[in-house]
Amino acid sequence: MNILVTGGAGYIGSHVVEELQKSGFIPIVYDNFSTGHAAAVSEDVQLVEGDIHDTVFAKHIMEQFEIDAVIHFAASSLVGESMENPAKYYFNNVEGSLHLFEAMRGAGVDKIVFSSTAAVYGEPENIPITEDSKLQPTNVYGRSKLVIEGMLADYDMAYDMHYVALRYFNAAGASFNRNIGEDHSPETHLIPLILKTAQGVRKHVSIFGTDYPTNDGTCVRDYIHVCDLAVAHVLALEHLLKGGTSRVYNLGSENGFSVREIIKSAKKVTTIDFPVVEEQRRPGDPAVLIASSNKIRQELGWTPVHSSVDTIIGTAWKWHKDHPQGYES
Ligand code: UFG
Repeated sequence: MNILVTGGAGYIGSHVVEELQKSGFIPIVYDNFSTGHAAAVSEDVQLVEGDIHDTVFAKHIMEQFEIDAVIHFAASSLVGESMENPAKYYFNNVEGSLHLFEAMRGAGVDKIVFSSTAAVYGEPENIPITEDSKLQPTNVYGRSKLVIEGMLADYDMAYDMHYVALRYFNAAGASFNRNIGEDHSPETHLIPLILKTAQGVRKHVSIFGTDYPTNDGTCVRDYIHVCDLAVAHVLALEHLLKGGTSRVYNLGSENGFSVREIIKSAKKVTTIDFPVVEEQRRPGDPAVLIASSNKIRQELGWTPVHSSVDTIIGTAWKWHKDHPQGYES
């Protein structure tokens, strides 16, 4: 089966491409390289340079490669940037997805796995967060993903396009098998920033806020290994290919770790005692985000197996040590 992976040269996309190959699918990566890396795509994978806004070209590629389903990652994904430049997020994420869905409709492709986010929940009312929790994003990035989920529901209703939307919590870690990992520019995520500090590429790690209502005053997040995420995409794809109906699932490990706990684990794994500085809260950060992933466990039999914090940090550390300048190394 041929699967078009938009954004397949990005962090999560490239790990899903690896998992697709392992599972016997043929991934075709479709990426405009605005943030993706050609080096993240293995040489035996078909790589097409293209933009999701280009409906005509995307439709042509879907027809040429006889695409059976799409996995859609291509998006802008920086929360802070989304508040400063909402137009970019509505253009790249919402309008780009609309063009992609139209290309799918034109090419007769009616199955899609969509990369959504826990940011659709905003400040949660209850922990753990279930899929039927209130959807009240507190940033433009989350709102843009929520709009796309709504578009998918409407395309399903009107055009029988079936989808699985996967709401990721904090994706982290790196592949066990290949030289792929996390390389964002600018980097804003906690674990890669910590590891760059351990390497001496950055001077210190900032803790954003020490007065949250949590055990140690720092924010608690649900970290999920990117390889566990990748397996969930293949399960979602198989569900759709078997004729399954549309679904929305959380993807988290169901365990919460504070910023201080992550720093402690990183010091242990790396055996480096790097400098840490306590700073003010970062605007818009909820105190605690922990998923219930019970729905996808029950319905698709997904079980995260690599998501202990030490494994997440250990695999990420290996990637960072081998690639101190990311893919440029
Ligand atoms: N943090 C620090 N110092 C840093 C960076 C982050 O203390 O230098 C803290 C943050 O305040 C937060 C935690 O570490 O409490 C994790 O922050 P990340 O930026 O790594 O991740 P977020 O939880 O902010 O964001 C993640 C995804 C987003 C998604 C969001 C959904 O990266 O794409 O979860 O809630 F929108």
